[in-house]
Order: sequence, then structure tokens, then C-alpha cells
Amino acid sequence: TGNVTYDPGFMNTAATKSEITYIDGGAGILRYRGYPIEQLAEKSSFLETSYLLIYGELPTPTELEAFDQKIRRHTLLHEELKGFFGGFPREAHPMPVLSSAVSALSTWYQDSLDTSDEEQVELSTIRLLAKMPVIAAYAYKKSIGQALLYPDNSHSLVENFLRLTFGTAAEPYVMDPEIVKALDLLLILHADHEQNCSTSTVRLVGSAQANMFASVSAGINALSGPAHGGANEAVLKMLRTIQAEGVSPEDYMEKVKNKEDGVRLMGFGHRVYKNYDPRAKLIKQTAHDILGKLSGGDELLDIAMRLEEKALADDYFIERKLYPNVDFYTGLIYKAMGFPEKMFTVLFALGRLPGWIAQYREMIQEPGLKIGRPRQLYVGHPERDYPTR
Ligand code: CMC
Repeated sequence: TGNVTYDPGFMNTAATKSEITYIDGGAGILRYRGYPIEQLAEKSSFLETSYLLIYGELPTPTELEAFDQKIRRHTLLHEELKGFFGGFPREAHPMPVLSSAVSALSTWYQDSLDTSDEEQVELSTIRLLAKMPVIAAYAYKKSIGQALLYPDNSHSLVENFLRLTFGTAAEPYVMDPEIVKALDLLLILHADHEQNCSTSTVRLVGSAQANMFASVSAGINALSGPAHGGANEAVLKMLRTIQAEGVSPEDYMEKVKNKEDGVRLMGFGHRVYKNYDPRAKLIKQTAHDILGKLSGGDELLDIAMRLEEKALADDYFIERKLYPNVDFYTGLIYKAMGFPEKMFTVLFALGRLPGWIAQYREMIQEPGLKIGRPRQLYVGHPERDYPTR
């Protein structure tokens, strides 16, 4: 096997060079294209951050306007693609519906198969950004048996998504600017996170010169795993169990520390952050604002805050450098906004989309790109002869 290094889980192997996202997990730092996440959260929009990730620089106002207009022009789904949604069981999870529909986009845009055609790569970029929120909303609408609305391009990307998800022809969705802003912020915070499992998947599939729709579809499937994008759902389940069983946060913490039944404090700990996840810090305030406004406070938020307070002061968590991660508060916010739990990971996917696209484009532009092909250490039988029977 020569000079092959054994590195399960790619704990120490850099599979690529990248100019997109910088993380210092020890210091709790996250930057997109050099800009601190805190500044982008305060001053940017999801649309602008998407542009920054994909094209490398912040857009001028004219460039941003042109980008916005281009995306608005591409929100319609092919009428035949809409037939797709009726083909899945009503109770289907929206993640496989999303990945299937995204994969199917390449059957309508067959020119997109040539990944060396820069114009096609650009078109696929715009189509994905415009259509994925529509697909996500339709997956939800089908699951509750409601008719699909057409996008209304007088609305922004985020507004359209909310409208298509919650509005009906009978009762239009009343846009709440605070909810639009909070969702926009959550999408910014999820927009990229360097070589995580789904992004590495997008790169690996794309390294075989598979088109952008196929590669992003694979990324969505990777994200659907509970160890990756599914944690926000798990946090809410944990909080509800604590509430339903009337367990005090203190007693629950004892269970976690004694590793009873393998119980973990969901939404805590991270492979890279060994400090407060900077995204969790930004989300905590939003959780307070939104939950205070929408539900006049929330018992689950109180439980979450007490758990956090206890954990941050506890030796078990301090010694292991376990801090709240991005998912600790997001589920509570999504719930307050009216999203069912099944949609939480879909929202993560919508946020991560510009990151996947940026990483895909960076990869295919790399001179002398090599196909991703990990090695292995073979531990099976040595050569043996087929038995004579
Ligand atoms: N609650 C209690 N103990 C924990 C937790 C937790 N949430 N996380 C880690 N530990 C303990 C673990 O038991 C181990 O203890 P010991 O040394 O005594 O065996 C030690 O901390 C190290 O844990 P690990 O599992 O080796 O760490 P890892 O880097 O492989 O895992 C993790 C990271 C995120 C999978 C893990 O912290 C976890 O399961 N957290 C809860 C699930 C969660 O919130 N996931 C969201 C991740 S962020 C979003 C995303 O990337 O998609």
C-alpha cells in the first residue's frame, strides 16, 4: 500500500485547498471570504452573502440588483416537474423529495451536463438558487395536501419561500418583516462551513465531472443524516421529552453526565468548535426576540436556557470543551415561525446551498483537477484458491 495514511473520518486529511471559508474551532472564529460571520450577520443579507461566497467579493449595489433580478426570473418550475411531487407518498420526508427534484432538474436542463461550459455552470447556479426554495415549499405543501402556489417575483427569495410555504390561494401569507429578517439571518449563518460531510460529498461527486444538480442532490442526501443536518430536530425532541416527563434540567444533566442510555445533550459539542460556536451566539439573541414576539415566551426556550447555563458551568462540559452549536436554538426558532419539524433540515439545506455551489465552482475551476478517490487499507483475506467441490 506504499505511502497510504490511515485517517478514518478524514480527521487530519486536507483533501483540497480553498479560498472560501475560514474556521478556527479553538478560538470560535468563522469567516466567509475573510469577512467575520458576526459582521455579515449584522450587515449583509442572504442574497448578498450568497453572491460573496460564489463570486468571491461583495457585490456593488448594481451587481446585487442584477443578481437579484436574474434569480427572480428563474423561480418557475417546469410544469412537468410539478407533477413529480404527486408521485411520492403524502407522508414522505421532504429531504428525499428535495434531493430527487434537484437531481431531476438536469433532465430539463440537459445542456447543463457539460461542466466545462462556463455559461451553463452560471445558469445552473442561478437556477438552483431560484428553484430550490420553490421545490422545498412544494414538498411541504404536498405533504399537507394543499395546492401549489406560483412564485410571485415581486417578492424577494426569502419572502417568496415563506409565501409559497404558508400561503394559500384562499388566504395570502401576511409577511412579517421580523420573521423575514430572522430567517434571512439563519440562512446566512448556515451558508457555508468549509469541508463538512455534505460539502465534501458535493466536491467528491463533482470531481467526477458530474453536473451541479447531481452534485448538490448528493449533498442534500448527506445532510439528511441525523449526525449532520438532523440535529436541530433532535434538540427539539429532547426539550419536549424533558417538558413532557417533568424532569428538571438539573436531573437531565445528571443523566447526560452519567451517560445513561447513551443520552447526550443535543445541540452541544462539535467536531471542529472546541469553543462557543460563533453562530450559536448570534442565534441565541434571535431566539429570544422571535420567541418573545411570537409565543409570548416559550417554556421550551426556558428549559434550553437553563440547560445551557448549567452546562457552561459544569466540569463535564468544560473538560470536554462542549459548547452550544448552531443547532441548539435553531429548532426553537423554526418551530415558532410555524415550520413543522420535518422541514428543519430542509431549511438547513436552503441555507447551505450557496456554500455547496461556491465549493463546486471552486473545484471545477481548479487547474489539473483530480477525481476524488480515497485509498484504503485492505484487511480482508489474503489470496486463496476457489475450492474444488
Ligand atoms: N453531550 C454529552 N456528552 C458529549 C456530547 C454531548 N452533546 N458531545 C460529546 N460528548 C462527550 C462524549 O461522550 C465524549 O466523552 P468521553 O471522552 O467521556 O468519551 C467527548 O465528549 C468527545 O465526544 P466525541 O463524540 O468523541 O466528539 P466528536 O467530535 O466525535 O463529536 C458531535 C461531535 C457533534 C457528533 C458530538 O458532540 C454530539 O454528538 N453532539 C450532539 C449532537 C449535535 O448537536 N450535533 C450537531 C453538530 S453541529 C451541526 C452539523 O454539523 O450538522
